[in-house]
Amino acid sequence: MMNKRAVRVGVVLGLFVLGAVGRLHAQDADKGKQLYAMCVVCHAVTKVNGTGPGLAGVMGRKSGTAAGFRYSRAMKSANLVWDEKILDAYLTDPQKVAPGSVMPLSGVKDPKDRLDIIAYLKTL
Ligand code: HEC
Repeated sequence: MMNKRAVRVGVVLGLFVLGAVGRLHAQDADKGKQLYAMCVVCHAVTKVNGTGPGLAGVMGRKSGTAAGFRYSRAMKSANLVWDEKILDAYLTDPQKVAPGSVMPLSGVKDPKDRLDIIAYLKTL
């Protein structure tokens, strides 16, 4: 027979499990910041360009428009707006979304990693 205490413990445990599952699915900008280690060699988190364009403000920006960066012809004419969906597709397989673009990254395979990176990009 369940006493009141057992019920209370059960409810607390249930909420804890739900919370953990919720976190598993949520985007995690802190995790994304760590994962950004694979981007930072080419992309500053400011507007300063390096091997790649600076990514500050990239969310909602038109592709190929960072001031002063020499994009490939392919990226200049890709005509995309970087939102979550397009970024997710681009980070999965850059060549599929912008064929002929020259980002030397074969893709980020883990979907959760991509979401976390995108969550971090939103903070820039
Ligand atoms: C070895 C260098 C390099 C790495 C690593 C790299 N990129 Fe790039 N990235 C580039 C270059 C170069 C371009 C410009 C491509 C072109 O002009 O075709 C680019 C373009 C982009 C663009 C388009 C920006 C715009 O202004 O239109 C985004 C978004 C982007 N990269 C995100 C990322 C993310 C996120 C990562 C890490 C997961 C990453 N890149 C890793 C070099 C790199």
